[in-house]
Amino acid sequence: METANIVGMTKHNPDTSLDSLQIGIGIIGSGIRLQSILGQLLPLASGLQVKAIYDPDDSAVATCKERFAPEAAVCSGVEELCAREDVDWVFIGSWNCQHAEQAIAAMKAGKHVFCEKPLALTTDEALAMQQAQQESGCTFALGLVLRYSPLYRAIHSAIASGQIGNVLSFEFNETLGFRHGGYIHGNWRRHSKYAGPHILEKCCHDIDLALWFIDSLPLKVASFGGLNFFLPKNQHHQERIGNGPNGEVPFQHFVRYGNSNPFRTDKDIIDNQVAILEFANGVRASFHTNCLSGIPERRFYIIGDEGALRADAITGQLELRRIGWDEPTLLRQPIQGGSHAGSDAPMCRELAECMAGQRPPAASINEGMRSLIVAQGIDTAMQTGQVVELSPFYEAAGLV
Ligand SMILES: NC(=O)c1ccc[n+]([C@@H]2O[C@H](COP(=O)([O-])OP(=O)(O)OC[C@H]3O[C@@H](n4cnc5c(N)ncnc54)[C@H](O)[C@@H]3O)[C@@H](O)[C@H]2O)c1
Repeated sequence: METANIVGMTKHNPDTSLDSLQIGIGIIGSGIRLQSILGQLLPLASGLQVKAIYDPDDSAVATCKERFAPEAAVCSGVEELCAREDVDWVFIGSWNCQHAEQAIAAMKAGKHVFCEKPLALTTDEALAMQQAQQESGCTFALGLVLRYSPLYRAIHSAIASGQIGNVLSFEFNETLGFRHGGYIHGNWRRHSKYAGPHILEKCCHDIDLALWFIDSLPLKVASFGGLNFFLPKNQHHQERIGNGPNGEVPFQHFVRYGNSNPFRTDKDIIDNQVAILEFANGVRASFHTNCLSGIPERRFYIIGDEGALRADAITGQLELRRIGWDEPTLLRQPIQGGSHAGSDAPMCRELAECMAGQRPPAASINEGMRSLIVAQGIDTAMQTGQVVELSPFYEAAGLV
């Protein structure tokens, strides 16, 4: 286990092959997401082993143990897990409000961290994480999984290599299928004190991609949004649609995990929102999110002075056409579609390589901090009805 505990492990060590890895993993929050990641990560190297689990939900611990590590220790808290010598990396898949405290505890104990998105709920929390990372020298990988998608990497490279010229403006969206939207409004994510606002909890991915593609930070944001559908008066839509072929209740995905009826729950998040953004480099954008779409999309439509690019994660399609009389439309289907655009497997592969010291993570604290600030700004703009200036937040976070 010693190799991974060396702080310098974060520095490139291309000679460490995945076959020779011996890394103990501690799991904090053994829910759906981390179990999905472990299912793809652990088969990559037999020396990647779950040594300890902490989750206040006994059933989540039991499933995780049964699936991945029958021998793993069950810990009674974060402190106990982080104190274990056989744990080199701590994986955090708890509720968003717990990420900061748990990640700081892990790094203070000298453990490298993989933490699910969003980074944190407030800039102060994010700054404390940054400080803990700098003081410990530990690696911090953030689960902004779409950064690993071949589709999104193709978009980034098309823009960076000038294929559409200088970007002028763009649209992007995340309109969720009705089951996914109902799931959000039925579980812990419906309370912003646990998850943050929807624009952070769900759309931090899309914001992060926009900032990465445009290579600039938005200085001004405005937004409107509200809760208009997941209300008791609309429950009749469940009867209208009827149960699915296998008895699935509409709008109630993952019922087995105890999710409540999204029409009846108390909540303080929105189910539809629009935002506009103006970037420091002059680029302008509009964003649209909705939790009950009949045609789910995760789409970017980006216009440059030499061409345009349109891509949708759900279908996996990417079109690019340069401005001109007879320019062909370049249509590429780089990978399967889906809300994560085929990014889970490459993220796990690169995470294993990161754990081996072969590469840095594609997303870490700075990326999480940027998307957090922009999401917070958009939420404040929606709450107040005012245009929000973001420069002071970037300055406070040392990003400019
Ligand atoms: N990157 C992605 O695309 C993606 C996708 C889904 C979820 N996520 C993130 O993963 C995290 C978990 O989401 P999920 O879908 O697995 O939710 P989940 O509800 O299935 O799992 C969360 C787990 O955290 C546990 N938990 C609650 N309080 C805890 C505490 N104090 N300490 C430790 N564990 C605690 C719960 O019991 C539960 O088992 C969230 O941060 C979410 O934003 C990321």
